[in-house]
Amino acid sequence: MRVWQISSFGVDSLEFVDRPTPSPDLGEVLVKVRAISFNYRDLLIVKGLYNPKLKLPRIPVSDGVGEVVAVGDGVTAWKPGDRVAGIFMQNWFDGPLTPGKARHALGGDIDGMLAEYVLLEDTGLVAIPEHLSFQEAATLPCAAVTAWNALSAGDLKPGATVLIQGTGGVAIFALQLARLKGARVLGISSSYEKLDRAYSLGLDAGLNYRENPEWDRWALEETAGQGVDLVVEVGGAATLPRSLRALRIGGTIAQVGVLSGPADPGPFPIASILHKQARIHGIYVGSRKDFEDVNKAISLTQLRPVGENFPWSMAREVLARMEEGSHFGKLVLTVA
Ligand SMILES: NC(=O)c1ccc[n+]([C@@H]2O[C@H](COP(=O)([O-])OP(=O)(O)OC[C@H]3O[C@@H](n4cnc5c(N)ncnc54)[C@H](OP(=O)(O)O)[C@@H]3O)[C@@H](O)[C@H]2O)c1
Repeated sequence: MRVWQISSFGVDSLEFVDRPTPSPDLGEVLVKVRAISFNYRDLLIVKGLYNPKLKLPRIPVSDGVGEVVAVGDGVTAWKPGDRVAGIFMQNWFDGPLTPGKARHALGGDIDGMLAEYVLLEDTGLVAIPEHLSFQEAATLPCAAVTAWNALSAGDLKPGATVLIQGTGGVAIFALQLARLKGARVLGISSSYEKLDRAYSLGLDAGLNYRENPEWDRWALEETAGQGVDLVVEVGGAATLPRSLRALRIGGTIAQVGVLSGPADPGPFPIASILHKQARIHGIYVGSRKDFEDVNKAISLTQLRPVGENFPWSMAREVLARMEEGSHFGKLVLTVA
């Protein structure tokens, strides 16, 4: 089978190579991968910034979907032809995260989905929503589950206000899912064109943060001085201080991302955290149960993920596109 792997770090180091096609052993399922999607984490992993000590060679990418083509002895949950996705952390089925459950993350400490075939434990899969194409479903395992859990951290009441940052994979799922929960959504983006696309998905109000860097003040104005109930924080060090200022007293920051890099944010904003009685809730994707829950919501509402599709021969170019930040929603590769 053909796979993309890294033997050294760097987007240009992604190499298209042959590996033996595996066959399923006891409790294992062989999946023919039909589509994958990139997450910012995949870019960090390929560049060696996520875990510089990662063992190489490694097949990157957490998010992939496909068809079951063979099952090993003892597998009763799946049969050939089933449409499935791998779960991000292969050991996290339900309940709170533990160090043991955090091991075996696809495309991290074990090989990922950027391959023609993957062999997974029968417990490491979920069925994908029937109304979605493989390309649409490939967007779900990390970004949709993360957005779902970020919104759950806010314990949103109908009419609550959510602030999203940018228009990448997690942010656009947070927008779509927040609207399902009856929330009002404010969004900031580097681009008016992207804001227009976000309005078409239900964004209530938007601001270009390049031209108006004081988006915390704007969020306060938009909420009559009260502040937002929840920030889906993907910016990290450089955006957290403003996120806290944009928050209502007693509101929640769902701390998801690190897009602004490891830059020193200056003194940690202790005073804002106290004065806002803020809850800062770290998010680390989610469990198989979370994935099944978000899939139920997506199926019931016939939600359609947003992304752009490319052939998998363009893996390097598409990762470079993610680095530029010119995309909207998800970047998807069809595996053929
Ligand atoms: N904790 C977890 O479990 C988890 C799960 C998934 C992702 N993440 C993290 O969450 C972040 C987003 O991931 P993703 O896959 O959605 O990324 P992505 O699709 O690459 O999103 C990038 C977009 O975010 C916006 N952006 C970039 N820098 C920004 C900044 N300083 N302030 C506001 N917006 C900014 C830009 O949109 P505009 O051009 O519209 O501004 C950019 O196009 C990453 O740091 C990723 O590592 C964490």
